[in-house]
Amino acid sequence: GPEVFQPQRANARGFDLAHTPTLAAIEEARAPFADATWEAAPLLAGEAAPEAAQTVANPTGGTSPGTVCPASKADVATALDNAAPWDAPLDARRATLLRAADMFEDRYGEIFAILAREAGKQLPDCVAELREAVDFLRYYAGQATNEPPAGIFTCISPWNFPLAIFCGQVTAALAAGNAVLAKPAEQTPLIAQLAVKVLHEAGVPRSALQLLPGGGEVGAALTGDARVNGVAFTGSTATALRIRANMAEHCAPGTPLIAETGGLNAMIVDSTALPEQAVQAIVESAFQSAGQRCSAVRCLYVQEDIAEDLITMLKGAMQALRMGDPWHLSTDVGPVIDAAARQTIVEHIEAARAEGRLIAELKAPEGGTFVGPAILRVNSIADMKREIFGPVLHVATFKSHELDAVIDAINATGYGLTFGLHTRIDDRVQHVSERIEAGNIYVNRNQIGAIVGSQPFGGEGLSGTGPKAGGPNYLPRFAAPDHQEASG
Ligand code: NAD
Ligand code: ALA
Repeated sequence: GPEVFQPQRANARGFDLAHTPTLAAIEEARAPFADATWEAAPLLAGEAAPEAAQTVANPTGGTSPGTVCPASKADVATALDNAAPWDAPLDARRATLLRAADMFEDRYGEIFAILAREAGKQLPDCVAELREAVDFLRYYAGQATNEPPAGIFTCISPWNFPLAIFCGQVTAALAAGNAVLAKPAEQTPLIAQLAVKVLHEAGVPRSALQLLPGGGEVGAALTGDARVNGVAFTGSTATALRIRANMAEHCAPGTPLIAETGGLNAMIVDSTALPEQAVQAIVESAFQSAGQRCSAVRCLYVQEDIAEDLITMLKGAMQALRMGDPWHLSTDVGPVIDAAARQTIVEHIEAARAEGRLIAELKAPEGGTFVGPAILRVNSIADMKREIFGPVLHVATFKSHELDAVIDAINATGYGLTFGLHTRIDDRVQHVSERIEAGNIYVNRNQIGAIVGSQPFGGEGLSGTGPKAGGPNYLPRFAAPDHQEASG
């Protein structure tokens, strides 16, 4: 008979936010948690002796979503003493991870409530975040093998995808059979606590998955011990370099570090681009999630011939953006994560204003840690010394004959995460994509929101060590180093 195509895994559940009954169901599922509070603390395979509780901030200016007890030095020692690789048979490991994926989908109301109040996530971003986490679980469960695990894997994640990236790292390490020590970002311990509880309820043993909330000191302790056999880190390039130095000093030689880090992502729009398409893609790539995506566009290069018109359109599109409560569907731009982040971003905008380089800005609402989106002029991406992690777009122009010089300047930053191109010249798509050094290249669309399994995500150079998350080469890197060749 004819061959029947069987998908390897079910896609995560979708939510149609233009469908009134779906919105009513989401509201009903979230309502019991709208004012709830949660408590995060170390979840160990032994007794915890955590530090005093601290309040978790709400970037929207609303009520605090709860408290966190950071892990103490004694907790790190307990976790290392009791960590044991997950020795369940392959089928049982897979079934447990798939069960956890279903449990995450069932608990969407509570998950959305925490994401909105702890991370300031808007509803569409809450949906995307849950879907990515569930996709990671099912994707890595499907790829688990019987290769020997590395042993103890430390997973350190950022606050900007506090469920998706946390789950991606942890479940890859678990699918490979490792004992995981998970340290979420200090800003987002509550969603991580929920994730670990769900994984434990699904059947992951405590000795195979321990949660150690806290800041850089906890991360340093978990990456500076000879018993650690591997580290998966996602966060800033500066922190990755610190971790690498710490591991070189304290871990066994050759202990693997998988680091996914920051970027100075560029987009090139030439004079053949469709302006409406480019403007929409620019606004989404620069300002969605308040610019707090590692994939966000930071530097836009527009061909001089169309620059004036395109920037006029861009300013118009920007004026239409609304800021405010992330739970309202009319909100386009939510808050940045905390007061320190806001200060860094605002100082950057003010410096540009003082130099006469501010092209446009929106006024931020009172309360919470909002930053009004801004567009700044630069001569070249070479003027940008570091990643500004917020809703700030830098714009430069180029002449037709300067295209290759622009590509050289982009490559010369040393980063290589995402890149966007808008053109209707086929040869140019080919030429530019061959020359640009970036992990993910997007043509005639936005440059954010990579999909697990279809668009493996990760950068090169200062942006990461590879392998790409959500792609076939990721899981093998969590196996014992001697066995990676065979499985990869
Ligand atoms: P960060 O580097 O400040 O923190 C990331 C994590 O590292 C946190 O859990 C933090 O507590 C921990 N940490 C801090 N100091 C440490 C130390 N000395 N040792 C061990 N751990 C330590 O980054 P962030 O502000 O949470 O996240 C934003 C950054 O993450 C941006 O640079 C962004 O581009 C990057 N990012 C990259 C990707 C990617 O896939 N490439 C994805 C998301 C975010
Ligand atoms: N995978 C995330 C994105 O593409 C970081 O936006």
